[in-house]
Amino acid sequence: MKRYILTGIILFFVLSGIVIFKPTKPQHNSSNNKPGAYEYYYNENEDDEEDSLLPEDLSSILSNSRTVPLDTIPGSKTVLVNRVYLLPSDYIPPNLVVPNVKFSFTYSSDKRKLRKVAADALERLFQAGEKDHVELYGVSGYRSYARQKQIYDKNIATRGQAATDAVSAKPGSSEHQTGLTIDVSARSVNFRLDQSFGDTTEGRWLAENAHLYGFIIRYPYGKSEITGYSYEPWHIRFVGKAVATYLYENELTLEEYYGVEDAVKEDAAKNESKPRVDVEDPDSVKYATPRPTVKPKASASPKPTKKPERPKKTNDKPKKTKKPIQTKTPATDSPTAPPAATPVPTPVPTAVPTEPPAAESAAPTVQDHNTSQ
Ligand code: DAL
Ligand code: ZN
Repeated sequence: MKRYILTGIILFFVLSGIVIFKPTKPQHNSSNNKPGAYEYYYNENEDDEEDSLLPEDLSSILSNSRTVPLDTIPGSKTVLVNRVYLLPSDYIPPNLVVPNVKFSFTYSSDKRKLRKVAADALERLFQAGEKDHVELYGVSGYRSYARQKQIYDKNIATRGQAATDAVSAKPGSSEHQTGLTIDVSARSVNFRLDQSFGDTTEGRWLAENAHLYGFIIRYPYGKSEITGYSYEPWHIRFVGKAVATYLYENELTLEEYYGVEDAVKEDAAKNESKPRVDVEDPDSVKYATPRPTVKPKASASPKPTKKPERPKKTNDKPKKTKKPIQTKTPATDSPTAPPAATPVPTPVPTAVPTEPPAAESAAPTVQDHNTSQ
């Protein structure tokens, strides 16, 4: 009998020890993540539309400070990726799937793919668009490190460093590698990825509604020095509804959200790179598209005047002027620019490509450049 009691006591302590010392996952927000941390951190529940950790964190963190701790975990939905904060070259996102949406091409390609959580959100976004008679098309989603390197190297070879760096990310610094980002366009601009898209019905609808489905316009107008890239109305990034709505309502970029708005600028100064501008000089950037002539209102300041509260969708928010009106002549030698002094061309029924561009099988081409930003 005594032996049974003793065995019971020993078993109790052994089991308690297992519970107490059970290893935990790294925290969602961390400023000192070691490379490779993503290997053991994922939110396995990709069906979750939202990060289960973040909304609660956000409200408590933001009640004390304007920013939240920097998230550089590659597998996190709120990871910051830019010229300064790079992804490991061997990072491949989990759960890549093809969303059931229209694409600007019909062939099969990795660029159709997104992480499931972003793919589901994209389907909802595009469906909402259709209800409002807005037809959006996916153009370029997931890109591996190797694919981004092909695109970047080709752009450098054909266009030079400055023009390339305005719109094309170095391998490791492209959000497309996260599987949370997709470039979208519309038939009204012949599925091009250029700034004229921002002034179309589709581009405007996207800018006003993307956050409701968890996406942000990652490179908004007027923030190039902070993000490091020209205005890209077509490039949307999934961050989850809470963060997307917070950024939308406060007109913040992800860099500002994390309080690292000077990082890109400082990096540019250190590397003596050219300062970033929203729209490069069309003479130096051959594929530059119509230049915005109307700047956003001064009130579109990124800094909230009071401590932000947990993001909430409000109905009484004053209407923002976010998108510039584009009337200026595009670069005449732009491969995709509409003719000089004409508005965006009337939609021409365009044949959706059924074959991958040469760039998809070998080196990127000019056409690929315009479909892979
Ligand atoms: N066009 C964006 C910056 C990219 O290349 O990822
Ligand atoms: Zn993009």
